Amino acid sequence: MIYQFFYIDFFPKVNYLLSWWHTASLEARFLVWYKSKGILMIQRVKGTHDYLDLTLFNFIIERATVLFKQHHFTPIMTPIVEPTELFVRSLGQQTDVVSKEMYVIPSTDGESICLRPEATASTVRAFVENGIQHVPWKVFTWGPMFRHEKPQKGRYRQFHQISLEVIGSSAIAQDAQLIAMLDYLFSQLLTFDAYALQINFLGCHDDRARFKETLGSYLDSVIDKLCDNCKVRKEKNIMRVFDCKVPTCQGLYTKAPVITDHLCVTCTEEWKTVQELLEALSVAYTIRPQLVRGLDYYNKTVFEFVSGALGAQNAFCGGGRYDQLVTMVGGKEDRPSVGAAIGVERLMLMLEPLKDKLPLPQLPALQVVIPVAPAQQTVALLLGQELINQGLCAEVLLDGGMKQMMRHANRIGAKYALIIGDTEQAERAVTIKNMVTGQETKVQQTEAAKFVKNGS
Ligand code: HAM
Repeated sequence: MIYQFFYIDFFPKVNYLLSWWHTASLEARFLVWYKSKGILMIQRVKGTHDYLDLTLFNFIIERATVLFKQHHFTPIMTPIVEPTELFVRSLGQQTDVVSKEMYVIPSTDGESICLRPEATASTVRAFVENGIQHVPWKVFTWGPMFRHEKPQKGRYRQFHQISLEVIGSSAIAQDAQLIAMLDYLFSQLLTFDAYALQINFLGCHDDRARFKETLGSYLDSVIDKLCDNCKVRKEKNIMRVFDCKVPTCQGLYTKAPVITDHLCVTCTEEWKTVQELLEALSVAYTIRPQLVRGLDYYNKTVFEFVSGALGAQNAFCGGGRYDQLVTMVGGKEDRPSVGAAIGVERLMLMLEPLKDKLPLPQLPALQVVIPVAPAQQTVALLLGQELINQGLCAEVLLDGGMKQMMRHANRIGAKYALIIGDTEQAERAVTIKNMVTGQETKVQQTEAAKFVKNGS
């Protein structure tokens, strides 16, 4: 038995480890040594990302920003931390976001603060707190939001939204205008073709109060077939039953009463207007009677842009009207409003396959300045500054020997290497090497920028 352990199990493993140790890279050996000492690498927080290539991210922000400014929206910024009470009051205590997903920061001074899970409540708070008088106040903002959700494709704990709001406009045509603008962004500026716009109308406060009773009666009639979660939702936040993913519940809700059949005269008219305007503006949509959205502040129009390419988390933009939020946050009078938020990461997932066809900004050609020895570093730094002052993109290489620096220049895609050795320094010259053809030309340092710009 012992014999078998040493000769069959143990020795081959030791041999394998020894041969691995001798052939493995220095980094790999370091990692094993670190781990053996209990010094583990610190990893990013679950559900967050390092963004090492911002090309798509910036492209989205830039396209949206230009379009929103053309529609006379003003960019604003609000804090990432807010009083927890802001979201409890506005999104609703019973919503998933408030009841399960908030990052509340423990504090010793009695004030409970949290990382913002969305930006609408913050924008409304800013509107009230800063005493904004001119309405409609058309603003947008973008930045990180935080929700403690179970991470999966397209669902993260730190993610980015572009959030836009029209505060102080009761015109229902504003809803159609906002939706049409977003549709233009997605179809024309971001070139998506496989997506759908789903809309619904939640009516006014009285419509919903009446509808909740009708829905309650229907749910009572099928109560034995509901999942346990829906039984709880029925008591706490009845409209949210429509968000249930359980197939039997979904089947039951296709036969449930729909709110648009229970609207007052004014809301019926407005619901019709939204649809007519979208048609007039050539925006394709489908009506989804079960669309209620996950936040409590909505009334009247609600909508989502969805894409099958995203999998389970298919909404890449969502929004709607919120006519009472200003008073809920502490404003003196109701300011009917409408807005939407775009999930930047979900747009990035959709843009990735289209990347090659997008007019992404081209990086400017890179020039590198190479001092052959430390004695030439000062003149190299001065030349680098001069190239940048002339509007070029330049990097001065300061680490390693000549061979290493040339290899580095190749790797980072330099167009020209501007080499300064003893002789060049003495002659106030520089040898410019074309990194593609290998051709070398010696010019005066004062002529270097012109040479590099003209390519000769
Ligand atoms: P929301 O539907 O909660 O609405 O979020 C808007 C969008 O943000 C979603 O459609 C999705 O693309 C993205 N998103 C949400 N949660 C995550 C997550 N965990 N990971 C990645 N992306 C996510 C709002 O936030 C409202 N404030 C929209 C609004 C503005 N309504 C009126 N004005």
